[in-house]
Amino acid sequence: MITIHLQPHDPSQAEHTLQVQPGQSLMQAAVDANLTGIQADCGGLLTCATCHVVVHGDWLGKLPPVSSDEDGMLAFTAQTREVGSRLSCQIELTPELDGLRVTLPASQY
Ligand code: FES
Repeated sequence: MITIHLQPHDPSQAEHTLQVQPGQSLMQAAVDANLTGIQADCGGLLTCATCHVVVHGDWLGKLPPVSSDEDGMLAFTAQTREVGSRLSCQIELTPELDGLRVTLPASQY
């Protein structure tokens, strides 16, 4: 199991901390936990951009680079793309990502 932290956009709201099995996507882990803030309308097919997260700086370098397909879809996020923006369905949780921190956008629509 690894631990991941998802901070709501509103900093006054409590952070979500999940214990999850590696090998699944960050999106799937969030959906399985019934987390509000990740919609994932396409189920991970990279066609909706409603699984947007902003990865905290320290963790960005541990992720695989953004693919051209993900890069294209990041133009369609509801919240303006930031330096750490990624689509969580494209982030496979590996043991190296134990402790991963992301912030959820204000809205996915
Ligand atoms: S779940 Fe649709 S793009 Fe990630």
